[in-house]
Amino acid sequence: MDKLVIEGGTILKGEVTISGAKNAVLPIFAATLLTDDACIIKNVPNLRDTQTMIKILRSLGKEVILEKNTVTVTSTGKINFVADYKLVSTMRASFCVLGPLLAKLKRAKVSLPGGCVIGIRPVDLHLKGLKALNADISIESGYVVAKANRLKGRHIYLGGVFGSSVLATANVMMAATLAEGRTIIESAACEPEVIDLGEFLIKMGAKIKGVGTPLIEIEGVKHLHGASHQVIPDRIEAGTFMIAALITKGDILIKNLCYQHLGALIDKLLEAGAQISIVDHCSLRARFKRRLKPVNVTTLPYPGFPTDMQAQIMSLMAVTPGISVITEKIYPDRFMHVAELNRMGAYIQREGPHAIVEGVRLLSGAPVMASDLRASASLVLAGLVAKGITTVSRIYHLERGYENFEIKLQNLGAKLWREKE
Ligand code: UD1
Repeated sequence: MDKLVIEGGTILKGEVTISGAKNAVLPIFAATLLTDDACIIKNVPNLRDTQTMIKILRSLGKEVILEKNTVTVTSTGKINFVADYKLVSTMRASFCVLGPLLAKLKRAKVSLPGGCVIGIRPVDLHLKGLKALNADISIESGYVVAKANRLKGRHIYLGGVFGSSVLATANVMMAATLAEGRTIIESAACEPEVIDLGEFLIKMGAKIKGVGTPLIEIEGVKHLHGASHQVIPDRIEAGTFMIAALITKGDILIKNLCYQHLGALIDKLLEAGAQISIVDHCSLRARFKRRLKPVNVTTLPYPGFPTDMQAQIMSLMAVTPGISVITEKIYPDRFMHVAELNRMGAYIQREGPHAIVEGVRLLSGAPVMASDLRASASLVLAGLVAKGITTVSRIYHLERGYENFEIKLQNLGAKLWREKE
């Protein structure tokens, strides 16, 4: 296992190019199961999670070729209907093969993904939606076993206790493309990654309206064909580099992003006093101009502030003198990074779904442990500004979601390197 060693104190400057969106590409890979034709997916980030999804597609009988950042998925003949525990348990997003397998093969057996450090993470909404489409669903030995001779379109309310669900919307939308009749998903997730999936499905011949709004309408078709698609830029990677610029008092031009996907984050950073300038429709410049002010942040489903940026903005607030309150409304237990940031000299108290951050002038380098993907990113950001050396263990979490993270940071002047644990 590798750890990342960071020598803090460098001001980051220069340009960085954002990779394709992890959370868009994973359900798009699953959607290729809906057709026997070839699909070509471009701008695929080379990440541990994309590799896991490629393994799952191969285990289900697809042939997958990865060349640079383009993936071609073709059929080898028979598709297997069982998605194994060993693969699904390593990555929750793989659960979204359930809808496509069920729609295409009339049956599917997909391991339940289990919980993870950011919370219990149930799949009740996925199952509710598929049941409403006429699937017969049971849980057997840790697997979801789903059968349906013909899925039937229905009006489905898919909102949950914490609002809409990104992957449940994806799962049900994919299944509904091949269902008989019209499906309406009410309280659908509006995230850009759901829109990207919808656009890919439309290219495959699906009849979908309203994707990107809380009301998605799908008119089932008999079959879908192959398609080629370019994945959208990763808004969370872009946001992480915006924070990297500000936390190090730097100046970074961030290219190949879609700034419209970053509205809530840009708004908060402007409120804090950062200088964010839109250069053109696919690049922006994040620059530290003067001392930042603390801001309160509440995570919400899109277009609200993303939970996947909560840990990173907490690192920024940890070194911004004054008090800020960060409220987590999607995953109320997503605070594993708090204790690690406090080990670096931050002063953060957790009270239920709130973190009260009292910004300090200086963090000090320390050995810290990454607990999940975005928590790891927040620790690296803190390490970049801390005095002395920070070592971040378990960086395989980072490799799940950031393509060439350390190389991109090194190119901006950061002093960091990998060492064996
Ligand atoms: C996706 C993202 C993840 C992001 C999350 C929230 C991918 C691959 N992952 O995860 O990075 O943090 O959206 O923006 O796209 N819930 C239920 N029942 C369900 C499903 C979800 O109660 O059946 C709850 C969850 O526990 C959570 C909330 O709904 O509290 C939102 O979760 P959801 O949008 O489903 O997250 P994912 O799609 O798994």
